[in-house]
Amino acid sequence: MNKNIAIYPGSFDPPTNGHLDLIERGSKIFDELVVAILRNPDKDPLFNVSERAAMLEALTGHYSNVRVDTFDGLTVDYAVRVGASSVLRGIRALSDYEYELQMALMNRKLRPELETVFMMPAEKYSYLSSRLVREVAQLGGSVKGLVPELVEQNLRGKLDPAYKLAEFAPAREERSETRKSRARKKA
Ligand code: PNS
Repeated sequence: MNKNIAIYPGSFDPPTNGHLDLIERGSKIFDELVVAILRNPDKDPLFNVSERAAMLEALTGHYSNVRVDTFDGLTVDYAVRVGASSVLRGIRALSDYEYELQMALMNRKLRPELETVFMMPAEKYSYLSSRLVREVAQLGGSVKGLVPELVEQNLRGKLDPAYKLAEFAPAREERSETRKSRARKKA
């Protein structure tokens, strides 16, 4: 019998709990799920592709039917190369729908034999995006509960030394107090 293979394409910069929620759901309905990271040289990523692949591999290692790969070019061509019949995408809110619909219909035009399957992550992740995680973390906010601990640790390594994740750094007021007292000492 033919295996029901799906790809789950995306940037995953970084992987969030929303992505992992979707991977878990996808792993239950497909025989094999390939988490496919787009190698996009145009973007200026926070994590390079190997870093993202390493994180996703560590985070999905316990699923026997999930593997992680990278690709470039058209998603649909990659899907066909790995023998997938479906493309899995997450829809969080109505605002995702228009873009996702456009992509799904374009992909259908390119490869009518491929189906796009939309799944919804848990409501608690409905506002979560990699872009917001990057922004909050880079500005010193806490992303606890929004990304796996491994990602949180790796984010810490990427931070501007001026900022640290909230739990690991003094509160903003304390930081400015410290700066003030340093300035006073210098003066
Ligand atoms: O996580 P993202 O950034 O929302 O993922 C977007 C992604 C990678 C699925 C999309 O940009 C994509 O499929 N890019 C590959 C190039 C391609 O196939 N473009 C035509 C899409 S209709």
